[in-house]
Amino acid sequence: MIATSAVVLALLSSADAFYTVKRQAARELLFDGIRPSKEIEWSPCNETQTVYMECARLIVPLDYQDPGNGLEAIIPIVKYPTNATGAAYKGAVLTNPGGPGYLGTEFIYNAGIAKEIAANVTGPGYDILGFDIRGVGYSVPYGSCNVTADELFDPLRQNATEGNEFTKRFTRRLKSAATIPAGAKDTEKSPYGFFIPELPPSFLEQTAAYADAWTAACVAYTSADNQAGPHMNTVVTATDMLWIARALARARGQNDTNALVHYYGISYGSVLGQTFATLYPDHVGKFVMDGIVNMDGWQTRTETDIVRNADQGFFEFFKQCFAAGPKKCAFATGICYQDTINRFNRMMSRFNATQAEVEESPLAAPLLALVAQLRATILDSLYAAIDSWEGLAVIFNKLDKATKGPIARWNVTEITTILSLPLSPPSGLPPAPLQLRTYSFFQTACGDAPSIYNYTISPVEEYTYLKASAVSGHARLVGRVSCSRYSIRPKWEWNERIGGKTKTPILFMGNTLDPVTPWDDAVKAALKFPGAEAVITDVIAHSTFFSRNTCAYNRLREYFQQGKLPGTNYKCAEEQRPFMETPHTTVIEQ
Ligand SMILES: *[C@@H]1O[C@H](CO)[C@@H](O)[C@H](O)[C@H]1NC(C)=O
Ligand SMILES: *[C@@H]1O[C@H](CO)[C@@H](O)[C@H](O)[C@H]1NC(C)=O
Ligand SMILES: *[C@@H]1O[C@H](CO)[C@@H](O)[C@H](O)[C@H]1NC(C)=O
Ligand SMILES: *[C@@H]1O[C@H](CO)[C@@H](O)[C@H](O)[C@H]1NC(C)=O
Ligand SMILES: *[C@@H]1O[C@H](CO)[C@@H](O)[C@H](O)[C@H]1NC(C)=O
Ligand SMILES: *[C@@H]1O[C@H](CO)[C@@H](O)[C@H](O)[C@H]1NC(C)=O
Ligand SMILES: *[C@@H]1O[C@H](CO)[C@@H](O)[C@H](O)[C@H]1NC(C)=O
Ligand SMILES: *[C@@H]1O[C@H](CO)[C@@H](O)[C@H](O)[C@H]1NC(C)=O
Ligand SMILES: *[C@@H]1O[C@H](CO)[C@@H](O)[C@H](O)[C@H]1NC(C)=O
Repeated sequence: MIATSAVVLALLSSADAFYTVKRQAARELLFDGIRPSKEIEWSPCNETQTVYMECARLIVPLDYQDPGNGLEAIIPIVKYPTNATGAAYKGAVLTNPGGPGYLGTEFIYNAGIAKEIAANVTGPGYDILGFDIRGVGYSVPYGSCNVTADELFDPLRQNATEGNEFTKRFTRRLKSAATIPAGAKDTEKSPYGFFIPELPPSFLEQTAAYADAWTAACVAYTSADNQAGPHMNTVVTATDMLWIARALARARGQNDTNALVHYYGISYGSVLGQTFATLYPDHVGKFVMDGIVNMDGWQTRTETDIVRNADQGFFEFFKQCFAAGPKKCAFATGICYQDTINRFNRMMSRFNATQAEVEESPLAAPLLALVAQLRATILDSLYAAIDSWEGLAVIFNKLDKATKGPIARWNVTEITTILSLPLSPPSGLPPAPLQLRTYSFFQTACGDAPSIYNYTISPVEEYTYLKASAVSGHARLVGRVSCSRYSIRPKWEWNERIGGKTKTPILFMGNTLDPVTPWDDAVKAALKFPGAEAVITDVIAHSTFFSRNTCAYNRLREYFQQGKLPGTNYKCAEEQRPFMETPHTTVIEQ
C-alpha cells in the first residue's frame, strides 16, 4: 500500500503523470443507486467490503458566481463513520489526498487508509470523509477528455445536470509574474555529486506536443459552460467544502450559518486548505495541512523552488545505502559513500538520450522514456524513503547489470520491467485504488494562476527549473509547459493573497527532507495565518502520512482531540531510517 500510495499521493509528480496512464474511477458501482440531493442523504455505498462505509451525492451550483443559472454539479462523498454518539461525537473531517486529481472518495473508501487516519491522525469521535474535487472521479460534470482508450469515459456525466442557460465564458489574460535570473549556465550535475542524465533537446517539444493534443481533446469534451473544464480551479472546490459542511450541519438539525469545516489535506490538499482558510476564515474548524505548497509559487505557476530539497534527500540515499552495506542495500559498493555515487554516475552516463538523438539513433525515444521513468522512480522513492530505498537499491543494482553492454544490445523490455518493479514489498493492506488522469493536474492547477497560455518558455527559465533539482526540476518544468499550452480558463478567476486570521488556529506539517513540499514552506504558511503553528518532522518523506513518526501523529491527535497546538515550529526527531532490519515498533503515546 505504501509504495502504491507513495507513487500516487503526490503533489503531482508530473513526470510520472506524463508517462503512465491510469484509469479514473476504478470502482464503477460505488455510487450507483446513490440519489443526488441538495441535502446530504447517507446510504451504504453500492459495493460491499468488510468495512461499512456510507456514500452521498450532494447537489451544488455548478457556478457559484451565477448560482441561479440552473446548472448544477454533483459532489460524491464517502464516509467512514465513527461509532461515537452524543458528546463523544466530534464532527466530520474532510480530507484531500493531493494531486490535484487523486480521488478523495476512493482514498477514504480504502479501509486501510480510513482506519489509519481515524486512528493516527484524528483519533476517535470523527467521521472521516472523502470527496472528489471538481471534474474528477465520480463528479458530475466529469472532466474526462477521453484521451486514452482505457480511460473510463461516460458522455452522460460530461455535462452539468438540469442545464437550461449557458453564459459566455469570461476569460482574462495576465502577464506571468515570473522573473528569470540572468547569467545562467547549463549543467545537470547536482551539487551533491550525483549525475542525472540530461533531457534531450526534443523533451520540451514533446511535452508541448502532448499538452497540445490533450488541450484539444479537453476543449472538445469539457470546455463548454455546462461542462467541468471552466469550473475545476481550486476556489470552486474550496467553496464545495463549505457547502458540504453546511449540508452536514443541516443534516444534524443545526443552524448552518456558522458551520465549521474540519480538515486534513495532504500536499495539493494544502493548496485547497489555504484557499479555503483565506476565503472562509470564520468557517475554519480543526484544520490540518500536511506537506505544504508555497502558494506564492502556486498562484503564479512558478514553482522552480518547491523541489529544492529533493537532491539533498537523494544524496542521503547514497550515504545511508553505503552505511547499511550490500546485504541491506543491494547497490552499496566501495570503501566510502562516494564509491556508491560513482557507481551510480557510471550507470547514468550510459543513458545519454541527447547523444542518441544527435546520432538519430532509433534508441532516442526509448532512452528518453527510460530517463524520464528513472527520474520519476527516484522522486517517488523520496516520498517514503523508509519504505522505498531497499527497493530502489534493488532496481539500481539490476539496472546496472542490464546496461553494462553496448547500448545497441540493451534489452529495452527488460530495462522497462526493472524500472517498473515496486519500490516496497507489498504490505498486508489493500492497495490504494487512487487514480490520476494524465491531465488532471493542469485542469485544476493552471486555473489557479493567471493565464500563461501561449507563453514561450525561455532557455534561461528552463535552466532555472532544471537547476532547482537534478532529480525533479524537469517535472516542475513540465507543469509550466503544460499550462502554457492549456487554453481553458476558469469562469471564476481567483488569485488573491493567501492568509488571514482564522476562527480556529491552523496546524501545518512539514518534513525536513520532503522532495516536493519543503519544510520551510510549512513555516512560511504558518506565518500567513495568525495563530497557526508548524510541526517539522525529521524524515525523508512527503507528508506525515509517510513519515511513520509517532511524535508527529501524536501532535496531530492532540490537536484534533484537545485542540492543543504544540508550540511554534515544534520539532519531531527522527525515529526510523531506511535499510533497517526491523522497523521500530510503533507506540502510541497517550
Ligand atoms: C447498485 O448498482 C447496481 C448497478 O447499477 C444497481 O443495479 C443496484 O440497484 C444498486 N444497488 C443499490 C442498493 O442501489
Ligand atoms: C464501529 O463498531 C463496529 C462494531 O463493533 C466495528 O466493527 C467498527 O470497526 C467500529 N467502527 C469504528 C470506526 O471504530
Ligand atoms: C497507525 O495506525 C495503525 C492502525 O491503523 C497502527 O497499527 C500504527 O501503529 C499507527 N502508526 C503510528 C505511527 O502511530
Ligand atoms: C472516446 O475515445 C474513444 C477512442 O479512445 C472513441 O472510440 C470514442 O468514440 C470516444 N468517445 C466519444 C464520446 O467521443
Ligand atoms: C453536453 O453539452 C454540450 C454543449 O455544452 C452539447 O453539445 C452536448 O450535446 C451535451 N451532451 C449531452 C449528452 O447532453
Ligand atoms: C442561524 O444563526 C445566524 C447567526 O447566528 C442567525 O442570524 C440566524 O437567524 C440563525 N438561523 C436560524 C434559522 O436560527
Ligand atoms: C551526452 O551526449 C552529448 C551529445 O553527444 C554530449 O554533449 C554530452 O557530453 C553527453 N553527456 C554525457 C554525460 O556523456
Ligand atoms: C528481453 O527481456 C525480456 C523480459 O525480461 C525477455 O522476455 C526477452 O526474452 C528478452 N529479449 C532478449 C532478446 O533477450
Ligand atoms: C500564440 O503566439 C503566437 C506567436 O506569438 C501567435 O502567432 C499566436 O496567434 C498566438 N496564439 C494565440 C491563440 O494566442
